[in-house]
Amino acid sequence: MIEIVIFINLVSLCNFLQIITICSAKATPKRKEGIKTKDQLSTTFSTDSNAEPTRKPVLTISKTRASSKENVEKKPENLPEIQKKSQKFKKKKSNDKEKEKSTSLETITKDIQKSKRFAEQSRNTDKIDQRKTWAAEISKKKCAQLAKLHKERVKGFVAPRTSYKAFESNQSLNRFSDVFCIDSTRVILKKQQNDYIHASWIHIPDSQTSYILTQGPLTDTISDFWTMCLQEKIKYIVMLCPLMEDEEQCAQYFPDEIGQKEKYGNFEVTFQKRCEEPVENVGHSILSVADGEKPAVEINHIWVTWWIDHLAPNNPKDIIKLINWVKSHNPPKTPILVHCNSGAGRAATFAAIDYASIRLKQESDIDMVIIIRELRNMRYQAVQSHLQFLFIHVCLLELFIQKGIIERDSAVELFMEEYRKHADNKLAKRKAGDMGSKNEKQLLHH
Ligand SMILES: *[C@@H]1O[C@H](CO)[C@@H](O)[C@H](O)[C@H]1NC(C)=O
Repeated sequence: MIEIVIFINLVSLCNFLQIITICSAKATPKRKEGIKTKDQLSTTFSTDSNAEPTRKPVLTISKTRASSKENVEKKPENLPEIQKKSQKFKKKKSNDKEKEKSTSLETITKDIQKSKRFAEQSRNTDKIDQRKTWAAEISKKKCAQLAKLHKERVKGFVAPRTSYKAFESNQSLNRFSDVFCIDSTRVILKKQQNDYIHASWIHIPDSQTSYILTQGPLTDTISDFWTMCLQEKIKYIVMLCPLMEDEEQCAQYFPDEIGQKEKYGNFEVTFQKRCEEPVENVGHSILSVADGEKPAVEINHIWVTWWIDHLAPNNPKDIIKLINWVKSHNPPKTPILVHCNSGAGRAATFAAIDYASIRLKQESDIDMVIIIRELRNMRYQAVQSHLQFLFIHVCLLELFIQKGIIERDSAVELFMEEYRKHADNKLAKRKAGDMGSKNEKQLLHH
């Protein structure tokens, strides 16, 4: 009996050693090409932006441009550890051959446990460090460097092998003809004659948080919008645009005076009450939404009217506060619905802040370009402008300070100050541009 047990143990040990050897054989060539050490990582931004200098932004879809190079490849985790581990075992193996008979199973088991502990420990230290390392690297950079990175590696990125069939066959239900809706992630309306709405799922890997990003409803899609909200049991709608900027941003899909009721198709929406502002200058009201005879459902409507299209706030604090507030109130596993006019710029930037904070915590070998490309695989053109891309960085630094992960040192302050000036500048230019378009003829003569 004992002999059988020992035999089985030896067989499984042999298998284990074999696997380790195979692992090491596979791991070695890969490491040379793809895996970066911590030191190499610190130069990721500058070297990578040189790597693809000729790419121009793709504004309209061109499927051939989305080459496999642009594919987001996931790199295997902890390869150096596996390697070290297997080298240890290789040595062990040759030693074992010499004094095979004297080796007891006990010592080998101990070694296995030891190397398991070793792998565990190195994984843990990675986890603690990566947001800190990321923040330290970013705060050393100039805004212009990151803007260049957005221009060269994000702005033109389109998810490879993606179809937009529902979008194409439902032109009248789209706010913009050039902001596509990806088939594989679209929100499908169930029990409807037409199942299409311009809305995308954003799932964060290994997280309970999810978002639905959608365009500002059109007059003809308001009842689809409410269908989606009830179907997905939405509790919080975050609206990041006014109804009008230069043109309509969003149809009025809710009444805005206390007690007022409005009908949209089968739906009756009542403005129930106005609540205390969760953040200064952010509206919060409760809408009660009834679908025919079914009992009405209460939905929180959060409204930010001061975030201007294509731009970003100059200060991260209010948006961070709002994200934290919404996340702490939204029931677990319920998607948070976010929209602006297109559902790709402001709305995706909002979701990207939360998404990136989770991804940076999860993975050591990840940067903002990869993160935004992941988002763009789910929502077309997610994060539209370089200012929005910069804003995500500033928000994460602020968030990590508030969480006690990093300190508000002079490098971080300098970075944030540079961003603030840049954002103010962009806003001033926009305002001048608006005046310019009004006095176009006058300005043209100067
Ligand atoms: C809208 O898209 C859906 C899904 O692809 C399709 O079934 C439907 O026929 C389209 N509607 C129109 C009007 O083409």
